[in-house]
This record gives sequence, C-alpha cells and structure tokens, in this order.
Amino acid sequence: MPRALITGITGQDGSYLAEFLLARGYQVTGLRRRSSTQNLHRIQHLTGLSLVEGDLTDLASLVRVLDETQPDEVYNLAAQSFVGSSWQQPLATSDITGLGVLRLLEAIRTVNPRIRFYQASSSEMFGKAQTVPQHEGTPFYPRSPYGVAKLFGHWITVNYRESYGIFACSGILFNHESPRRGLEFVTRKISDGVARIKLGLARELRLGNLEARRDWGFAGDYVEAMWLMLQQPEPKDYVIATGETHTVREFVELAFAHVGLDWRDHVVVDPALFRPAEVDLLVGDASRARRELGWRPRVDFPTLVAMMVDADLERLGGGRRAGYSLGPDDGPTEAGPAPGGRSGTGDGGRRMPHRDDAGREGGAPGGGPG
Ligand code: NAP
Ligand code: GDD
Repeated sequence: MPRALITGITGQDGSYLAEFLLARGYQVTGLRRRSSTQNLHRIQHLTGLSLVEGDLTDLASLVRVLDETQPDEVYNLAAQSFVGSSWQQPLATSDITGLGVLRLLEAIRTVNPRIRFYQASSSEMFGKAQTVPQHEGTPFYPRSPYGVAKLFGHWITVNYRESYGIFACSGILFNHESPRRGLEFVTRKISDGVARIKLGLARELRLGNLEARRDWGFAGDYVEAMWLMLQQPEPKDYVIATGETHTVREFVELAFAHVGLDWRDHVVVDPALFRPAEVDLLVGDASRARRELGWRPRVDFPTLVAMMVDADLERLGGGRRAGYSLGPDDGPTEAGPAPGGRSGTGDGGRRMPHRDDAGREGGAPGGGPG
C-alpha cells in the first residue's frame, strides 16, 4: 500500500487530496499544526486518515514525522495562503510559505531522498503577467509578499531536483475553489454573501476590486493533477488551469442571478478592500498538463458558481436544494463532485459545527487589503 504525507491537511486542497488518495488505496497521513480551536471540519468525514502534529516552521518536527511515517510521496500544501494577509504578516508568510518548503526538502534529503515531492506553487508568481496566457516558460513577476514567498518555494524545489536528484515537482496551480474554500477568499465571500442576502440574514456585500480577472477552476479537479505529476517517469513543473478568465464582477453577477437577485442592489465597493499591488489578469495555458498528464478540468465556471452558492444556501438555511437533505446537526455540506471520497463523520456520527458558522466576513479585518 503506497504511503502519502499531506501537509495542509486541514485546508481546502488537503481535504480533497486526502479523499482522492484514500480512494486509490493509499495510506494517508496528514500533518497538522497545533491549534487552540477545532479546525478539522473539512476532513472529519474521512475514514482511514491519520493525523500527526508538526509545523512547517519547525524542522525537527518535519524530520520526526517523515521518520515515523516513512511516506513514498509528500504533498506540501501547507502555507499562509491568503494574499491579503501577506501584507499584514510578511515575515510569517515568508517563513511558512517560502522557507517552510526548504525545511521540508531538507527533511526529505536527510530522512529519505527517494521520497517523491509535490510543491503547491501558484499562479500568483506570475503576478504582473508578462505573457497572456501564462505557461511554464512565462517569466515571473510576483506582486505580493505571498507571491514572492511562493517564488522562493518554487525555485528551491527546482534547485533540490537539480542539486540532489530528488523527484520534486512544482504544480503552478491557478485559482481553484469549492464549497470548502475559506471565507476570506473572494469566491467564497461572494457565495456566502449571496446566500445570506437571499435568506434575509444580510443586506449588502462589501467587496474590493471587481475588475481583477482570474482563471477559476474546481479544487476537486485540481488535486488529481497533483497526484498525476508524481506518477510520471520524470519530475517536471506543470501549469494547471482552465484556460478561461473571468472578472470578479462576472462571478458576482452569476452568483446573484443564480438566486434571482440583481447584484447592483446589494454590492458595495469598499476602497479599503483594494490591495496595495494587484494581480490584474491571470489565465493559464495548461497544454503541457493536457499532453503529458492527460489532465483536464471537468467543472466549468457557471457550474462552479452555482455549486458554491447552493452549498452556502444549504449550510445557512438548513433547507433542501438541489437534492440535498440536512439533518439538524449537520454542519458544512458539500455540493459538487467529491473525488472518490469515503463517507463517515469520524466523530461518532455527529458533525462538528463549521468554523465559519459565526458568520465571519471575508476580507481583511481593520480595513486592510481584501
Ligand atoms: P488553505 O485552505 O489556506 O490551507 C492551508 C493549510 O496550510 C491549512 O491546513 C493550514 O493549517 C496549513 N498551514 C498553515 N501554516 C502552517 C504551518 N506553519 N505548518 C503547517 N501547516 C500550516 O489553502 P488551500 O487553498 O488548500 O491551498 C493549498 C496550497 O496550495 C497552499 O500552499 C496554497 O498557497 C496553494 N495554492 C492554492 C491555490 C488555490 O487557488 N486554492 C492556488 C495555487 C496555490 P491551519 O488549518 O492550522 O491554518
Ligand atoms: N479576498 C478578497 N476579498 N478578494 C477580493 C475582494 C474581497 O472582498 N474584492 C475583490 N477581490 C479581488 C482581489 O483583489 C483579487 O484580485 C481577486 O479578488 C482574488 O482574490 P482571492 O480570492 O483572495 O484570491 P487570490 O487570487 O488573491 O489568491 C488565491 O489564488 C492564488 C492563485 O492565483 C489564493 O488561493 C492563493 O493562495 C493562490 O496562490
């Protein structure tokens, strides 16, 4: 039975990747850092998943975990991943998102250099995009401390591949979303806001730059590409994207229209949510992944928007939509395809409440960048 270690197991991608690998017969261990509050809501339905404690800022913990779990494959998904917060916490972001990659690679080199390694690189590295669309050869121009930190992680992954022969791949993934997306990211902030307004729980939705363009796909599709990269004969870097770009405004329009509302009656543009430096246009060319991995996205843009809005309506309203039914104790729910996930709540049949049920608004508190 192949063994995989996933860092960032409590995040959006960690949960989808764990489902994907468990369904393929992997023994999966997730690395989680110590937290004073419950944050397992995205993975509580998984059976067969083991958790170990560790932190990307603590090299000793990474060496211990690799030694104890002896994985064949390591997927490094952990990061301070919110671009807006990277201006509020540039040093912490660099330490976790940048240097954390180096610590993990050093741990691999020390414990077992035959481990296959996946690094979660990002289209944010293209930043002020130098070509349209962006592909593996496009020069990088990051526009945030997060993007700069990811660029370090990307190049150190390439360097360890070239210096030590480690099977290390960097997946340059464009934005991917789902009902499990954190509420601070714009798509989920919109789907949550639309559901609240539709259900009479809120009247307005405050957003920043509506003109930014992103290439948005479904997270469940993208984790398959991570796995495919580690199954190839040679380690390489791959762009993973849909090849379509849409403005934030288009996402907003579709999301409100999905519930029969006009977005202009509810959306307030708040200058405090604009970023110090913006990434205006991202659109990826994933032809190498299509050609060499046989990968393509399955969920299109309108389906993604509808999936997220429906899931938030169901979560907040406890109603019945699109064939879902909720028991009184159900927490977050999933719309859309879960890639081969096993079900089971993992806590004696009762789901834990969603971390975001408190109604925390997305965006940066205190008037910082969204
Ligand atoms: P996410 O939901 O924000 O999850 C991030 C994960 O990293 C969480 O499990 C978090 O744990 C963990 N983490 C943070 N700091 C850590 C530390 N010091 N030590 C160990 N774990 C730590 O992010 P995501 O959307 O799943 O993205 C997964 C990865 O792909 C990230 O590296 C992200 O930067 C990258 N990426 C994402 C996208 C996208 O569109 N989603 C696109 C390109 C690249 P806690 O729960 O304890 O906070
Ligand atoms: N978060 C947020 N909140 N973004 C807003 C808002 C708002 O209220 N209003 C407008 N936006 C705009 C942002 O300015 C940005 O241009 C765009 O919406 C997308 O913002 P996010 O959803 O926060 O994502 P991101 O593109 O900055 O970063 C995500 O994708 C990267 C890949 O390109 C994250 O998942 C990163 O971790 C990932 O690397």
